[in-house]
Amino acid sequence: MAAAPISPVTARAHSNIALIKYWGKRDAALNLPAVGSISITLDGLYTDTRVGFHAGAERDSVDIGGRKVDAAPFTKFLDLIRARAGIAHRARVESWNNFPTGAGLASSASGYSALALAGCRAAGLETSARDLSILARQGSGSAARSIFGGIVEMHRGQAEGGEDAYAEPLLNAEDWPLGVVVAITDRNAKSVNSTAGMAALDERSDYYDAWVARAPDDLASMRDAIAARDFETVGALTEMSCLKLHGLMLSTRPGLIYWNAATVASMHAIRALRAAGTPVYFTIDAGPQVKAICAPEHTAEVAAVLADVPGVLDTRISGLGPGAHPLD
Ligand code: DP6
Repeated sequence: MAAAPISPVTARAHSNIALIKYWGKRDAALNLPAVGSISITLDGLYTDTRVGFHAGAERDSVDIGGRKVDAAPFTKFLDLIRARAGIAHRARVESWNNFPTGAGLASSASGYSALALAGCRAAGLETSARDLSILARQGSGSAARSIFGGIVEMHRGQAEGGEDAYAEPLLNAEDWPLGVVVAITDRNAKSVNSTAGMAALDERSDYYDAWVARAPDDLASMRDAIAARDFETVGALTEMSCLKLHGLMLSTRPGLIYWNAATVASMHAIRALRAAGTPVYFTIDAGPQVKAICAPEHTAEVAAVLADVPGVLDTRISGLGPGAHPLD
């Protein structure tokens, strides 16, 4: 029996940052990752999304931050929800990020995670967190992780249909408090988004096979370090995965250079701080922002140092946050 659409539902999902990175797809149509990944969900960066399905509307409409955007990419995703619910109603989607959109702060992660939850609830669907993770993955790979809070592992999976490509929590946010300082070095949307950057990567980087082959070892080492609450090893593996990812990006034809001068200066500032005795490590996604990972008691000091780096426009401090949840 078809699910019955109910009144609009608002959900909040937090952004996440990968410690062991995802890059590359084993199936582009289903958005299946070529490698697993491990991330932390951030309490300080989130998306609130309201979805309502309406019988009379002719097409989907999507607003982000109060501005109407092209609904086409979201229609594809909303169709997945409509198919599950057996409804044809068009949706009205309104979404707000509390951080700059599309600039390497994982707005697709929090955005598709919030859309998956609010959309399913508004369509009257009862879905498990695992089902939501599988659904969110089809919007954006990293979104599968934002369904959960704390420290999260995304499985690459083996199944052709992607039934085993979902995320699972490794630790809850309160199990091991960690701090993150985001150094914003550019407020503009990035020039090559992740999906475009990953397209046909296997043919375009000589390093791709090695990246995929080593991923299970990197994930296992990180899992062990997390289980042992070994911060130095978690930090060292985080920097290693970040630099390896950027090596892969740089080696893609044409080379993808996401860093600016302030990105590089921030990396050096973090290493100098570490050499002076503060345990802090960096990571960077497909954008110019730098995220410093440290213990919560060190975030103020790290933020002060990064704020002084030439070209750093702003800093944000965050702890670990919860999984996606309804706000109504
Ligand atoms: C560098 O999840 O944005 O942030 O699946 O194509 O939407 P799509 O890509 P996306 O890629 C994230 C890449 C990354 C690393 C990571 O978050 O694991």
